Order: sequence, then C-alpha cells, then structure tokens
Amino acid sequence: EKGGYDYFMLKEIAEQPKAVADTLLGRIDASGSLTLDEVRIPAGELREVDKVVVVACGTAFHAGLIAKYAIEHWTRIPCEVELASEFRYRDPILDGRSLVIAISQSGETMDTLMALRHAREQGSKVLAICNTNGSTIPRESDAVLYTHAGPEVAVASTKAFLTQLVACYLVALYLGQVRGTKWGDEIGAVIRDLSQISGEVERVLETMEPVRALARSLASKNTVLFLGRHVGYPVALEGALKLKELAYMHAEGFAAGELKHGPIALIEDDLPVVVVVPSPRGRSVLHDKIVSNIQEIRARGARTIVIAEEGDEAVVPYADHLIRIPATPTLLQPLVATVPLQVFACELATARGNEVDQPRNLAKSVTVE
Ligand code: F6R
Repeated sequence: EKGGYDYFMLKEIAEQPKAVADTLLGRIDASGSLTLDEVRIPAGELREVDKVVVVACGTAFHAGLIAKYAIEHWTRIPCEVELASEFRYRDPILDGRSLVIAISQSGETMDTLMALRHAREQGSKVLAICNTNGSTIPRESDAVLYTHAGPEVAVASTKAFLTQLVACYLVALYLGQVRGTKWGDEIGAVIRDLSQISGEVERVLETMEPVRALARSLASKNTVLFLGRHVGYPVALEGALKLKELAYMHAEGFAAGELKHGPIALIEDDLPVVVVVPSPRGRSVLHDKIVSNIQEIRARGARTIVIAEEGDEAVVPYADHLIRIPATPTLLQPLVATVPLQVFACELATARGNEVDQPRNLAKSVTVE
C-alpha cells in the first residue's frame, strides 16, 4: 500500500505532480478560462463580495496565507487570513458580502467547522476547499472546491498542501475572471503557467538527493530557522512546521524583514538558516532585499541554506548550500519551493530515528478542540 516507499509520507511527496495535475483537471477549458462549476455561488454574488476571509488550521492556514497574496493581487478584494481557533472566539465583522473560505484536508477539523458555522450565522457565504468527499466541512458549506490529492495517510500534510494552493489560486483567478479586474492578461498567462506547473514539481523531485544528504548532516542540530518574504514567508512557516512535527526540532519561520526587529539575535555560529528567495525577475526589489538579509545573517555566522531559482546567480556567493528550483511566476513559487522543505524534514526525521508517518502526540484529523 506504500507503493514501494518506506513511508506514506515519501509516497505522498512523490505523488505531488499528479495531485497538482488532478486538481487542475477539468477546471481550465480549451480557451484557457476557468470553469469552476462546483463554485455554485452565482457570479452576481461573487461580484458583490467586498471582503474575503480565509479560516484554517496548521498547514491549511499556511495555504490560506499564500492565498491572500494571490487574491488581493488578482482581484483587489481585501483578504484576511485567520487561524480558525482564533477567529471563532472573537467577534469577527462579517456580513452577506463577505466570502469565507474554509480550507481543510480532512474536512473534519473542529475549529474550522465552528468558524464556518459562525460565518454562516452572520449571513456570509462559505466556500470550502477540502480533500475529503462528503466530510462535514463541505457538507455545511455553500459550495466546495475539492482538492484531488487522493487519500493522505501520513499525519504531516504534503500533497494536500500543494493541492490546497492550487485550489486557492483557482479561486483567486476565478474571482478575478468573474469580476473582470485589470489583470485580465496576467490572469490568462498565470492560468497557462499553472497548467504547466505539475511538470516543474516533478523536476524538483528529481533533484532532491543533495537535500537529503544535507538533512542527514544536520541531524544533531537543535534549531533550524526559516526566512522568506512575500509568498516565501508562509513557505518558511510551513518548512518550520514540518520540521517541528517530524524531526521534533526547534524550528521557526520568520518574515525576513523582521530579522532586525528581534530574530537576528538568535543567529550564532553554524546555525542552519533556510532562506526562500523570491524570483529575481518580476518584483526584483524583494529579491534584492533578501540577498542583503542572507549577507547579514551569514556575516553573523549562520550556515545559509538557500532555495533559489535556477539562473539566480546573485545568491551564489552567500549560499553555504544552494537548492535550485525552477523559475515560476512569483505567486506560484510556493508550489515548487515547499517541496525541498518537505523532503528536508522527512529525511531529518528519519535520520533522528523518528516515526515519520505517525509523529508523537499528533493526530491526522483534529476533531476536538
Ligand atoms: C501539518 C498538519 C496539520 C493540519 C491541520 C489542519 O502537517 O497536517 O497542521 O494541516 O491539523 O488539518 P485539516 O486540513 O484536515 O483541517
């Protein structure tokens, strides 16, 4: 059942190109437009939406953080992302023009379910992004966009995360398409890029051996830090979460711009710091900023593990270890940048003798508070 792999997690990491392709299947028509028939919220209502609120937990929350960048850029609708466990216990401001997106692999997470119930009581429409057919969250939502990752058995989420990202991009692009934003041309181009992306994920998987070797060499470390900017920031958070749950190591993700507001004090000799570098094309300011961040931490002794696009030569002098990923549009980069972090955490966990598929103290589906 593990298909020749030692762990379900390895199998599920390897299944990601297919999971991504399956989640796109049938949702882009021959003319390059999106056909999301499942989103049964009428176009007229979607045009009236004046706020999007994403609620989720854990890895799904990280997908939501990335969705915010995409939704606000492509639709210009303000978007908030909140941990479901926080959202449900405050008094969020919602009404009939708010669209709430609940992201959940299992469809049974109690906090996410309670958050969506609260949203519906306020008259908001709820769209679920979910991987489990007929589970509670989609049943209680107004509409559901299923991720087609297939069953995810390992407790640590991998392929579900990538498909949640794909679903978030589809929703963001669909909202842009329905509302006719000024990014019309860009939306068409991104849809084309998205339809190629599964091949890029495959290419990343083919180059993971050095990442595994690096992970093994760090097995006796206590702490690993992760830095990113823009969509690379949630990727850093996801990399840190994977390492905590699998390797039981102290791992933290930071927005690189926050370094000098505190975290840089943590940098000491030979501390491994993983940096997710945005594309040097497009928003190149971001890229230049992060190159200076890498220089800053390296000058203070950090061992820099740099994840950067192929052809990005500016990072080379400052990278103790360089992990290459294919060039993608900035907003789609998390689909390729997350994969090495999953492999890294999985290999570190194995090297430390941990149970990869069943980390201590964790359950696959959190149906209690
Ligand atoms: C992390 C992980 C958890 C889940 C979280 C939400 O690897 O698996 O953080 O992402 O418990 O679960 P779902 O998506 O089922 O609501």
